[in-house]
Amino acid sequence: MKLHEAILKRRSIRGYLPDPVPREILEDIIALSLRAPSAMNTQPWEVTVVTGEPLEELRRAHTELLRAGTPPRSDFGAVKPFEGVYKERQRALGFALYGYLGIERDDKEKRAEWTMKGFRGFEAPALIVIAADENLDDRVAASDIGGLAQTICLTALDHGLGTCINTQGVAYPQLVREITGMPETKKLHLCIAVGYPDEDDPANRLVSDREPAENVTTWVGF
Ligand SMILES: Cc1cc2nc3c(=O)[nH]c(=O)nc-3n(C[C@H](O)[C@H](O)[C@H](O)COP(=O)(O)O)c2cc1C
Repeated sequence: MKLHEAILKRRSIRGYLPDPVPREILEDIIALSLRAPSAMNTQPWEVTVVTGEPLEELRRAHTELLRAGTPPRSDFGAVKPFEGVYKERQRALGFALYGYLGIERDDKEKRAEWTMKGFRGFEAPALIVIAADENLDDRVAASDIGGLAQTICLTALDHGLGTCINTQGVAYPQLVREITGMPETKKLHLCIAVGYPDEDDPANRLVSDREPAENVTTWVGF
């Protein structure tokens, strides 16, 4: 697949077929994606791939926590709420997604079900969790991990796989560490759901908007 085509084709997939992803394919994806750049080539990432029974255990535990109303507590503290134009874009995304899913604004039950699906990794057959050591500068590690995450998504697409980068999967990091055996010294940055897209899932029809380049670009010296 041509790079241009891959960049345009990639989008967040939130509905998956149950078919497992062969380990060799995930190995290829990760090995190639590790060519992503990082500050001073420090390669701060640590990648954990979860499937099978441990993934089911993660799902059960997330479901219990959400049902019990336990507030999420990421390794990086509370996220600053979006305001202004960012809030508008966030709202537009939710509005479009709920539109495809046929969820009305005031349907709290369906919304909660959808939120639950996100915390359950969108029922994808595999999750890739990306962590970094607690001694690293969070800001530097986060930008490197962002590059790795996009590279994984593009490489996965080349194998016919869908992905959804998400922070829902690392919103209860203690749980993930316990189930995967990851050390306490690792901070969980991102989760990526991976699997074969369910083409009939209405959530996968969403193609999110982007600002035109002229609205976010300043040209200097041209
Ligand atoms: C850092 C990061 C965190 C994200 N967290 C979530 C999440 O928790 N749940 C979710 O459904 N999507 C999540 N997304 C996906 C974004 O909503 C999505 O990338 C954005 O709406 C653009 O849509 P696209 O990926 O289809 O192009 C996340 C994406 C990024 C980059």
